Amino acid sequence: MIVLGIESSCDETAAAVVNEKREILGQALLSQAEHIRYGGVVPEIAARSHLEHIDQIIAECLVKANLKINDIDAVAASAGPGLIGGVVVGVTAAKTIALALSKPFIAVNHLEGHALCARLTEDISYPYLLLLVSGGHCQILIVKNVGEYERLGTTIDDAAGEAFDKVSKMLGLGYPGGPLIEKAAQQGDSSRFVLPRPLIGSNDCNMSFSGLKTAVRRIVETFSEDGDISKANLSPQDIADIAASFQCALTDCLLKKLQKAIVLFKQKCPEGKHLVVSGGVAANTYLRQNLENLAQKNHLVFAAPPIRFCTDNGVMVAWAGLERLKAGYVSDLDFKPRPRWPLDDKAPKAAGAGGVKA
Ligand code: KG4
Ligand code: ZN
Repeated sequence: MIVLGIESSCDETAAAVVNEKREILGQALLSQAEHIRYGGVVPEIAARSHLEHIDQIIAECLVKANLKINDIDAVAASAGPGLIGGVVVGVTAAKTIALALSKPFIAVNHLEGHALCARLTEDISYPYLLLLVSGGHCQILIVKNVGEYERLGTTIDDAAGEAFDKVSKMLGLGYPGGPLIEKAAQQGDSSRFVLPRPLIGSNDCNMSFSGLKTAVRRIVETFSEDGDISKANLSPQDIADIAASFQCALTDCLLKKLQKAIVLFKQKCPEGKHLVVSGGVAANTYLRQNLENLAQKNHLVFAAPPIRFCTDNGVMVAWAGLERLKAGYVSDLDFKPRPRWPLDDKAPKAAGAGGVKA
């Protein structure tokens, strides 16, 4: 079984081919640099860029895999959630190939791509506890099977990656913020600035990062004579210390809520063995180390995709497509891309999970 996966839901145009033996046969990825000057992704620019590059990315991926388009068994694409202009480009490309070759089309929930990706590179059986942390989402879920998710907690405002990006902008570091904050934090003192840990005492597994971001802003304001943060006079050491304090506070929040989630997970799924982290923020080494310790303390095995597969890529879409195909789920060619698409959609599994049982 060979599946081609296409990703175009944000600012990466990507394609990959994987097979049942968990081999990545080929992959190609283009990170759109056009957005850097705007400090964030501009949806219309992203959609145009996907349109311009998608054919060439798919072709490049197949050449690297040494495959002809006819050798693939199915075509999967991220069909939401995401920036709809880009999603439509990837889904249309996938449907067109599927129609022309009379092969199945598989609408993949982008979040399912992140959620299942670690199973490609590590032996992880269902059920497992998942922290999904990306630019648009921050959720704690039990992954019970393909298309079967139970959400234990979510952010009630900003996503973790969004907080990294906004704090990075305040510090004048640039976009995407996560890797830049992580790098700056390596030279920083995380105890220099006292930052809040929002919702840390609440009894549920929900999270909040908006107040944390505002608290960072207040600190940056104190470095500016008139309170305008664009004129803040921050030394490299100040930036490093704020970055480290922020990264530590955000990680503390995630750890606290995960600890609660682990208790629930063990009650609900005593057979579960793994704590998995995925999504762009899972590329953060400080977070990964802390999660590994948390897992060990709770007698769970920690797992995460390799850092290059944490941020958006085609491999995760191809792999989720393959898992869907193996489970017998394919999608109709009239499947409408979904700008919003919760992973734990309560719609009947077939439709809500983006597929119908073949
Ligand atoms: O999963 P992803 O590529 O796209 C979405 O589906 O949103 O995640 C992108 C997010 C950005 O907010 C980026 O700043 C963050 O992941 N990110 C990181 C790191 N690398 C990427 N955050 C913290 N530390 C990192 N090393
Ligand atoms: Zn993503």
